[in-house]
Amino acid sequence: MTLFLNQKIILVTGGSSGVGRATAIALARHGATVVIADIDRAGGASTVASIRSAGGIAEFVATDMRDASAVASLIAGIAASHGRLDGAFNNAGILEGTFTAFTELDEDVWNRVIDINLKGVWLCMKHEIPLMLRQGSGTIVNHASIAGLYGNRIVGPAYIASKHGVVGITRAAALEYADRGLRINAVCPGIIDETVMSEAIFGSDRAREAQVKALYPAGRVGSLEEVAETVAWLFSDATSFITGHALPIDGGLLAQ
Ligand SMILES: NC(=O)c1ccc[n+]([C@@H]2O[C@H](COP(=O)([O-])OP(=O)(O)OC[C@H]3O[C@@H](n4cnc5c(N)ncnc54)[C@H](O)[C@@H]3O)[C@@H](O)[C@H]2O)c1
Repeated sequence: MTLFLNQKIILVTGGSSGVGRATAIALARHGATVVIADIDRAGGASTVASIRSAGGIAEFVATDMRDASAVASLIAGIAASHGRLDGAFNNAGILEGTFTAFTELDEDVWNRVIDINLKGVWLCMKHEIPLMLRQGSGTIVNHASIAGLYGNRIVGPAYIASKHGVVGITRAAALEYADRGLRINAVCPGIIDETVMSEAIFGSDRAREAQVKALYPAGRVGSLEEVAETVAWLFSDATSFITGHALPIDGGLLAQ
């Protein structure tokens, strides 16, 4: 194991659970100091405890990504205590409105999903970028989804719209800051096993699970570790010329 993220300060939003938690743990294992921000305090404390018990460095800051002043104070706090921010994984998100017809989608669901998944990522970037520009370097990885790259009838219109939006603002920001030392990419996983989202999609319907998994050329869906390690790699100096990408992590699904 090489410590290829040694000395880097990396923020993980939504790090109290699921992919964010697995990624925070992987980043710390690769040497990063990880700041976890989430609304779930108990989950955040548990991620921090896991990292510290393995000898890593992590801290938790309770933050609601929909709240502009909370996001601003999160980034100001990182600047004050660490003096810099090398990387940010803007990952916090929700899935609501699965298998819902366009005309049946509730406006509250639309607002919640867009608020957290899209506005939250934009707010994070709005406050992360100025700090990174002051340093002259920084890497952002936004968590989109394959639902940001193609339409499907599984995750519902609000989630599809939010993730297409995340891909769009990733590309726009990457272009704007490519010549000022910043790299901005998105990861676009297919369904990841053993998450609240795979649970929301499969439930206890084994026939549906088999049907969805059969869509994947790899013959299976992804794992937490497979996303976590891809995100860690995007933060590494090995990817210093990669920006503006929306990278599928999908076992070949979108190659069809
Ligand atoms: N699980 C999958 O199959 C899958 C596939 C593709 C993309 N994604 C994306 O991965 C990300 C994480 O999903 P997950 O499966 O780990 O879900 P999860 O529910 O396990 O984790 C999401 C985390 O975000 C936090 N969160 C929610 N709203 C928040 C807010 N307003 N402010 C701060 N934190 C908030 C939650 O507390 C939770 O800790 C999401 O953006 C999701 O769209 C997941």
